[in-house]
Amino acid sequence: MKKFLTLFLALAVLLPALPSLRAADDKKETELETTMGKMNGAFRKLRRQVLDASKNAESLELVASMRAASVKSTELIPALAADKPEAERAAFVAGYKKQMQEFMAALAPLEAALKANNNAEAEKLVAGLGAMQKKGHKEYKKPDEKKS
Ligand code: HEM
Repeated sequence: MKKFLTLFLALAVLLPALPSLRAADDKKETELETTMGKMNGAFRKLRRQVLDASKNAESLELVASMRAASVKSTELIPALAADKPEAERAAFVAGYKKQMQEFMAALAPLEAALKANNNAEAEKLVAGLGAMQKKGHKEYKKPDEKKS
């Protein structure tokens, strides 16, 4: 009985510590992943409410936070760049930056549509951003990073 009690107490102390042990084991999130995570939070919300004209002011704030995340992302370098042969690396990074800039540029017409209360158009533009996300991830994200 005393053994069980000791075991129980040991588990009671150790179990709450397990998640943090696992987190310490996980590979560290890159700065680009953190920034993309912010983009993701705003984009998911935007997708849900883009047709709701009563939320256009809030939607514009979401687009603004996506712009801030894209500005930051443009300054960062995808982890996959390190896996590229030295000779290809510069072109890879330049291609990423170009695509990121195109993504940013695509936020302007979305803002205009939301300001004009043209929600049907805004929905189409949001779908276009989703396609750009897919393309960007296919070309520049490490294949083992499955999130999103
Ligand atoms: C709506 C637009 C976008 C959303 C919501 C989004 C979201 C995300 C998410 C959730 C991750 C994974 C973060 C994690 O693993 O914790 C990620 C990673 C990544 N995304 Fe995006 N993304 C978007 C657009 C783009 C575009 C346009 C590009 C490229 C031009 C891009 C390039 C990358 C790269 C390279 C990573 C891997 C991070 C690293 O290498 O460190 N993303 N993104």
